[in-house]
Amino acid sequence: MKSKITIRDVAKEAGVSVATVSRYLNNNGYISDQAEKKIKDVMDRLNYQPNEIARGLAMKKTRTIALIIPDITNPFFPELVVAIEKVAKSKGYSIILVNTYDDDLQNNDFWVQLQNRYVDGFILASFQFDEKVLKGIEELQIPFVRIDRAADYNTDDSIGLNNFKGASLAVDHLIEVGCRNIAHISGPASYPPSQDRMRGYLDRLASRFPEKEPIVYEGDFSLESGKVLTEKLFQENPNVDGIFLANDLMAIGSLKALKLMGIQVPTQVALIGFDGIKLTEMVEPEISTVEQPIYEIGIIATNKLIHKIEGTNGLPDEKELDVRLVKRRSTLGFGV
Ligand code: RIB
Repeated sequence: MKSKITIRDVAKEAGVSVATVSRYLNNNGYISDQAEKKIKDVMDRLNYQPNEIARGLAMKKTRTIALIIPDITNPFFPELVVAIEKVAKSKGYSIILVNTYDDDLQNNDFWVQLQNRYVDGFILASFQFDEKVLKGIEELQIPFVRIDRAADYNTDDSIGLNNFKGASLAVDHLIEVGCRNIAHISGPASYPPSQDRMRGYLDRLASRFPEKEPIVYEGDFSLESGKVLTEKLFQENPNVDGIFLANDLMAIGSLKALKLMGIQVPTQVALIGFDGIKLTEMVEPEISTVEQPIYEIGIIATNKLIHKIEGTNGLPDEKELDVRLVKRRSTLGFGV
């Protein structure tokens, strides 16, 4: 088998020193136009592929970004990954995906392993931390950006979303189509986006129907919890005619439960989710939702992180992105 072309082979063939080739590859230090051209020609001719890992280790940079997400099975996150990977790639970075389970972030080994992978930075979307964990993360001294469940509006490293407004839009829309007994299936109560979405629900309910008691069930953002909690909701509150679910995946689970119970969506019960994942258009009826700018979140987060890694400034401060109400048949057909 032909042995791999090394930096030494390139230097020898181009008639320059290894240090010159290294300067060329790392784009640091003076190199004459003539030497640059020779090196480039030889690299093309020999089809030389620099060993990025070895180069990275030598420069203490790997041009790798870790993306830490809480649930790879939720289509919201793959949609986010696509945007992040696209921007990262265009700037010469690759992505490693880290799916977290249970209390991974609380575990010191998790962060040690991340450090051992020599990533240049990471984007954190999972939320399983407290102030102590956050302090530990900061001590790693690896640049990071917080999004989605991990976003905190009080810090400069976060890109948040107007979750309160999104929830308000959803509840107002249910009222507008005629729902009068509106329940909310929330995300985990400790997560900041769940709390803001819940606040939006409570606020709109209190202002439009001050006499009504809120009906809230705490889900975990999974398909199953949407299904199971909808069954429970209707056993305990058969008069409910509108449900705002804190994410789309739970809304799809809810739709399934309602079908199994013989309750018609949208004529008897209207449903609305949150996220704007593509799957909401693939079910029958199509599900109304509060759309997050998933792609834009990915682009802004990646640009922000790369700016932090490379120590450059000048990005506009995007702390909180907006949402959009998408009206579909799961609500528009209510009572028809
Ligand atoms: O569907 C995943 C949910 O988790 C989304 O609503 C997102 O905002 C995150 O919190």
